[in-house]
Formats: sequence, C-alpha cells, structure tokens
Amino acid sequence: MQEQTLSIIKPDAVEKNQIGNILARFEKEGLKIVAAKMLHLPEETAKKFYIVHKDRPFYMDLVRFMISGPILVLILEGADAVAKNRKIMGATDLAKAEKGTIRKDFAESIERNAVHGSDSKENAKVEIEFFFTKKEIFSR
Ligand code: CMP
Repeated sequence: MQEQTLSIIKPDAVEKNQIGNILARFEKEGLKIVAAKMLHLPEETAKKFYIVHKDRPFYMDLVRFMISGPILVLILEGADAVAKNRKIMGATDLAKAEKGTIRKDFAESIERNAVHGSDSKENAKVEIEFFFTKKEIFSR
C-alpha cells in the first residue's frame, strides 16, 4: 500500500553535514521525497510537536535539542512507508539499533539520534499536517 510518513533529520545530523547521506538511504530503499523544508523550530513548535512526551523526564531536554539548530523535515512516500522508514532508521535507542541503519551509523545517543520518523499511519497523518500544507506536497 502506498503511504506517506513524516521524517525529520535532526540538528545533530544536519550539523554533521549528513543530510545527503541520510536522504540517499531513503531513496535507495525506494522511498520518494515528496516534500522537504529546512526549519529552525521555535521552542513552542517543538514543545507542541512532542506534546505526547510532555510528562516524560526527557521532554525539555528533547525540546532544547530539537531547537538547537536547523532541521530538515520531509515527507517520504512509498509502499509501507511508515514501517519501511522505521526499519531504515533503526531503533530509537542507538544501543539497540541494527547494523546498517541510519541511527547505528549517524546517532550519538538516544537523544541525539539523527532522525525522527512517524510511528504509525495515524501519527504520520497528524505529523504531516503539523508541518506541511497540501500545496507543499508533490506526489509523483
Ligand atoms: P523521536 O523518534 O524523535 O521521538 C521521541 C524522541 O524522544 C526520540 O526520538 C528520542 O530522541 C527521545 N527519547 C526517547 N526516549 C528517550 C530517553 N529515554 N532519553 C532521552 N531522549 C529520549
């Protein structure tokens, strides 16, 4: 099934000049980039995006990290895009990320973990609408 999912290349990976290498991983696995923009999030936007984690002890650290520099926000499209993207990214916790995954190769820690990806089709829809208008998406 053709799906769309939201991906974020986080400030750590942008700072390390790894945008192209990460995008290549998505394209190599058959995902298409159908929307993309670089943003430097205001604190309120980062807090809102991660609101589901507001009661977790790492919430404010996560927000501070996500506003520490520019990020690249993407929509990836393809067959089973949500699951496929999660497989390409690897586990959230770098220690558990499999060989050959983005996080294994580019993350530094569970917080500075290079990429974000929607964890379900429902969240993908919400997260895509959070960052993009319909006119900014180019299905191809
Ligand atoms: P992400 O996929 O962006 O979704 C939520 C983020 O919270 C996650 O990646 C991690 O960067 C961060 N996170 C999750 N668990 C922890 C944790 N135990 N300590 C610090 N950060 C965490």
